[in-house]
Amino acid sequence: MTVFEPKKVRISHLSEFKAAGRKFSCLTSYDALTAGIFDEAGIEVLLVGDSAADNALGYDTTLPITVDELISIGRAVSGSTSRALTVIDMPFGSYELGPDQALETALRMVKFSGCAAVKLEGGTRSSGQIAKIVEAGIPVMGHIGFTPQSVNGLGGFKVQGRGEGAEQLLADAKAVEAAGAFAVVLELVPAELAARVSAELSIPTIGIGAGNATDGQILVWTDFAGLSAHKPRKFVKQYANLRETLLAAAQEYRAEVASGEFPNEAQSF
Ligand code: KIV
Repeated sequence: MTVFEPKKVRISHLSEFKAAGRKFSCLTSYDALTAGIFDEAGIEVLLVGDSAADNALGYDTTLPITVDELISIGRAVSGSTSRALTVIDMPFGSYELGPDQALETALRMVKFSGCAAVKLEGGTRSSGQIAKIVEAGIPVMGHIGFTPQSVNGLGGFKVQGRGEGAEQLLADAKAVEAAGAFAVVLELVPAELAARVSAELSIPTIGIGAGNATDGQILVWTDFAGLSAHKPRKFVKQYANLRETLLAAAQEYRAEVASGEFPNEAQSF
């Protein structure tokens, strides 16, 4: 199979990438400017993650963010993207009641955000919701392993699928695939298990803290760009240090305003 660089990344391209062994990259995005930059860089998938809650909106966890808040963010991201596939997270409380609630939420989110697909958390427990949404023609990305919306039930930020949990994780991955999802995120999963899941599934796997054998990788953009104030987690590689750059710039600006150096003649009318 020839692997090409699609003008517009579509769901089917991710499977083609997997079949050809061509890894793809995904980032979260919460605004028009970063979406435009990541799109220009060729990032294949932009996720309007519910991590916008604790990375852009100032909440402590992903739990409080609403469907409407994500829709506005999604509109900004999809409107500034011409090539990347845009996926929007279904937030906590918007699909757990069952397949009908899930479909209603997914229809609204896709219709008003302009994103091409939705993502929701949970394996076997969410398979009915995934099947119902897919049946209505909306592509769904699954998310298993550590699922941040269940942070309270999981007892914190912990690697999933160790020991006996491995078989359950594999069963969850297969349930997501059987329900019709086009890809699945594996979060905080031992690398060896993620490799096994990736080999046994025909749909692409996307890892975050899951080693390098998954078909794609995803990072939260504020982590990968070094903007987050907290210490990066073990699985994060920082490709820039925007926090340091912005802090220095703001300090310099403040000092120049205080000294009268800014604005100078060139910046005045
Ligand atoms: O919301 C998010 O950022 C996510 C990624 C961790 C996959 O779901």
